[in-house]
Amino acid sequence: MGKIHGFKYVLCLSSSILLNLYLLDSVLRRDGELTWSKSAAVEAEAVASISCSGHGRAFLDGLFSQGKPVCECNSCYGGPDCSEFSSGCLADADGGNPLFLEPFWMAHAADSAVVVAGWHRMSYSFDDGSSISKELQRHIRQLHAVTRNAVTEGRFILFGTGSTQLLIAAVHALSQDDSPSPARVVASIPFYPVYEMQTEFFRSVDFKFQGDASDWKNTSSSSLNFIEFVTSPNNPDGQLKEAVLQGPFVKTIHDHAYYWPHFTAIPAPANGDVMIFTMSKITGHAGSRFGYHSRTITYYVI
Ligand SMILES: Cc1ncc(COP(=O)(O)O)c(C=O)c1O
Repeated sequence: MGKIHGFKYVLCLSSSILLNLYLLDSVLRRDGELTWSKSAAVEAEAVASISCSGHGRAFLDGLFSQGKPVCECNSCYGGPDCSEFSSGCLADADGGNPLFLEPFWMAHAADSAVVVAGWHRMSYSFDDGSSISKELQRHIRQLHAVTRNAVTEGRFILFGTGSTQLLIAAVHALSQDDSPSPARVVASIPFYPVYEMQTEFFRSVDFKFQGDASDWKNTSSSSLNFIEFVTSPNNPDGQLKEAVLQGPFVKTIHDHAYYWPHFTAIPAPANGDVMIFTMSKITGHAGSRFGYHSRTITYYVI
């Protein structure tokens, strides 16, 4: 009789321990399970796995057909999976595209994935009242410290929607309202054509594009106001350019879009008064508009 009681006791105890272990396990498992982000993550991975033959990509925010995302093909390719090459397609040697960095990001898919909740930072400002992320600024300064491509100590950082916006913002900021003649905006040939296009597009009484900086070399010490774009490395020729004009009435905008170690050797950290950088070239995310400018101001463009 005693043996039967003992056996029942051991059976009950073991069952209770097993049941508790099972319940604990399922509670712990549920704790680690995704809830609201799960279907978004499943959708994101499903669209990323659509094959576009290496010549295109499908996006959740892209084209859909019959409720399903479809391939958006790179130039010269077509067809439902971008496998059809259009013979006679002309190569566009006039512009670039950062798609060459796509394989890098795919190789770092888990590290670079970002989950954004629908209620992410809806306020105009951060809790310290500023409208610029201190954490982002810290990372940018750290990045420059690691790559040793710019001095950021004691500098302000301004953000814009791509450096294109900040290039013209800098021209506006550096030209004077009350000047008798518009500031002469120049760049040495060959220069990035957007400098001229934007300066003319935003037609202003305060500034005017005046072509090649070298043409004004002998007049730059006069009281005429000049704004020179200095691009280093230069687009289109990759040269590490320096300012052509000097003088008390010359202001220089240093465009350092490509001043990163994977594009050029970095002889010394850039240290201009107005420096413009952009995420478009360092990471290749040209479609996500963010840039920055540093001054004794720094323009940062992202
Ligand atoms: C020299 C230079 N500056 C600025 C830009 C514009 O960059 P973002 O994409 O930040 O507007 C480019 C883009 O090609 C460039 O070549």
